[in-house]
Amino acid sequence: MGNEAILVFNFGGQYCHLIARRIREEGVYSEIVSHDISMAEIKKLAGREDIKGIILSGGPSSIYEKGAPDIDNQILSMGLPVLGICYGHQLLAHKLGGKVVSSDKKEYGHVELFITKQKGLFKGLSGKEDVWMSHGDTVIEPPPGAEAEARTENCPVAAFSSKGKFFGIQWHAEVSHTRNGTRIIKNFIFDICKSKHQWKPNKSHRKYIDEIASATKGGSAIIALSGGVDSSTAAVLASKAIGKRLTAVFIDHGMMREGESEEIKQMASRMHLNLHTVEAGERFLDVLKGVKDPEEKRKKIGAQFIREFEREAREIGADYLIQGTIYPDRIESGASKKSSVIKTHHNVGGIPEDIEFSGIVEPLKDLYKDEVRELAAKLGMEKNIINRQPFPGPGFAVRIVGEVTADKIALLRKADKIVSEEIRDATGIKGIWQSFAVLSGIRSTGVKGDARAYGEVIAIRAVESTEAMTANFARLPYEALSKISARITNEIPEVVRVVYDITDKPPSTIEWE
Ligand code: XMP
Repeated sequence: MGNEAILVFNFGGQYCHLIARRIREEGVYSEIVSHDISMAEIKKLAGREDIKGIILSGGPSSIYEKGAPDIDNQILSMGLPVLGICYGHQLLAHKLGGKVVSSDKKEYGHVELFITKQKGLFKGLSGKEDVWMSHGDTVIEPPPGAEAEARTENCPVAAFSSKGKFFGIQWHAEVSHTRNGTRIIKNFIFDICKSKHQWKPNKSHRKYIDEIASATKGGSAIIALSGGVDSSTAAVLASKAIGKRLTAVFIDHGMMREGESEEIKQMASRMHLNLHTVEAGERFLDVLKGVKDPEEKRKKIGAQFIREFEREAREIGADYLIQGTIYPDRIESGASKKSSVIKTHHNVGGIPEDIEFSGIVEPLKDLYKDEVRELAAKLGMEKNIINRQPFPGPGFAVRIVGEVTADKIALLRKADKIVSEEIRDATGIKGIWQSFAVLSGIRSTGVKGDARAYGEVIAIRAVESTEAMTANFARLPYEALSKISARITNEIPEVVRVVYDITDKPPSTIEWE
């Protein structure tokens, strides 16, 4: 028998993978399976792994929707502990005979939770907890024989348990916004499922190198380099895997930060990569002409990237494209059957169907950013690459609301430079995941030099995060914000107003478009 495993049934929730991740962090193997996995497939899995419990994830559906995602009923008779989270909670309650209703009072964000029984799943928690939830449907009666174990103002059965085997919680224990979420997950996997800490991830970089070597089948490849930690790490691995058969290609789409293109060239040379730079700014501006819709922008950019890579590959004679796509890029682009597309990341959903490559190789596709950073450190990569703030592939295009033009890019580049200089030089600012300026597309009235001025509004965005799936706006000191605002309005005549974005993710995303 192999590892002990907790299976996570995927109902398409944005945080489904965080559940598996939290379990693995506790040293227990966890695997994500589709919600409609058959009993026969489960039995096959059980031959390889010692399945200790099941978690039903959240998801965007309502159980009353036509074709709502479900599970095979036999799974509930296996005698395994089952924990339902959010949609999983509603589905489990419904299947066991409880009452679920569609409620007008949706609960969203941080909610005060009252726990009536601090035992079992809630061992070690207090009677009042701060949890994070996001739901429309609500369980109003627990299944027969089950007890409601927690409630919120609008949700009388925020948690229930039945027969010591079935558990449901309406909130997301897997997100960092739920303060004691990890405790609940630990109670489930260790106390209820009786799993043991025994799993260690394969942290060896050898595995990734071997995968690239075998996926490229002796052919040559180009690696799409953007200067960020993901593509740089993928480039180092690819270079170790296929050596001289690799060419790094940096497409300068003209929407990069000040000085960044030059930095990327220097970095690539320090990493001993054979780099081709393509100056493609005008072509990108051409395809973006008149495009206002953010999803259309992303798709056009994704397609243009591929066309640029194809042209380079043809010249070089390369068969494969290697990309530094990571897990969140895929999940937000709607990687699983039932999940909704939050935004099309340029390197995933933005890829056209008719590509000339024999294949696209994505060695980091199952990793989160912090795992990539760990891998990069193991590979001995430079600290300034490892700790570089993420920068989206489409660059300023997703920070300019509406149509992208050369003038808007130039303006935003100036504002962005001011933000990064001031944040770099300010004291006491730590733990920022990303900080940048956004050209809001709004025009507003101001007064400059005693005269009316009607001009641009720049928004400042700075967030703290661990994996970009959720984020909190950073509590930047007023001093720093005030300097940023004064410099932007003084140094960029077109700007009359600067605002600070104080929204978390969710409900916002990190980028504006
Ligand atoms: P959002 O805006 O979805 O961003 O909260 C999450 C993280 O992903 C980055 N991002 C992208 N990266 N191509 C990328 O390479 C994209 O199309 C893209 N869109 C967002 C964003 O900067 C943040 O780190």
